[in-house]
Amino acid sequence: MTDQQKQREEAVAFLRTKTAATPGIGIILGTGLGGLVKEIQVKTVIDYGDIPHFPVSTVESHHGKLIFGTLGKKEIVAMQGRFHYYEGYTMRQVTFPVRVMKALGVSTLLISNAAGGINPQFRKGSLMLITDHINLLGDNPLIGPNDDTLGPRFPDMSEPYSKKLRGLAEQVALDEKIRLERGVFVAVPGPNLETRSEYRFLRLIGADAVGMSTVPENIVAVHMRMDVMGISIITDECFPDSLKPTGLDEIIAVAGEAEPKLTTIMKRVVERC
Ligand code: HPA
Repeated sequence: MTDQQKQREEAVAFLRTKTAATPGIGIILGTGLGGLVKEIQVKTVIDYGDIPHFPVSTVESHHGKLIFGTLGKKEIVAMQGRFHYYEGYTMRQVTFPVRVMKALGVSTLLISNAAGGINPQFRKGSLMLITDHINLLGDNPLIGPNDDTLGPRFPDMSEPYSKKLRGLAEQVALDEKIRLERGVFVAVPGPNLETRSEYRFLRLIGADAVGMSTVPENIVAVHMRMDVMGISIITDECFPDSLKPTGLDEIIAVAGEAEPKLTTIMKRVVERC
């Protein structure tokens, strides 16, 4: 058994002492997006710090709890707080919770994040359904020996965000009268926000939104043939010719304002997927 398999088994064995739940749906809550938790009928809450081999989130705005419960009558497990590459974790650490979720029974992964808007049509507070991504992290969670029991050496990436789930999200948004943009998400390492020239470059290569997360989790989920949906809250307008300074406080404030829309979509998608 490899070290990674052993770590995963130890984390799962620990969680099994706390819960017998076998959620089919996993949810990752991004920066300032913990509000969905209020909608969950919570059964079990476990601090990341208690779970063997789980990294501990170092970002103030991320709580660091694994929450088991039901949402819209479906059994789910939610990560309140996630890990970022810029915190100094390896890509394998960042994505460890996704491996654990799969081992618990998760086959559908819903991811949220806060992102900068690159597409000039987007406004602060918009929601964007992720249709595809570009990995500019300069690293990949699948580098190193491949665990063939989890997935293939060279996973296909022709549809990293499930067409079925995207259709469902669009239908839900329409039913709920919530405006939902769609576009390409580019992941950068951070932690600094980008320069004007970098935003210009990101637009040029086809990105609509930029953030520092989601892509590692997506890659690992796709590796294990999970269905993934991703939604970004556009927290700042990254238009090179009219760029204003921004910071974490503003990003969290905008995410908080837009969050009810995201929560509604997530909840309805869970009910219907
Ligand atoms: N860049 C990268 N990540 C972000 C941004 C941004 O402008 N806004 C929110 N997350």
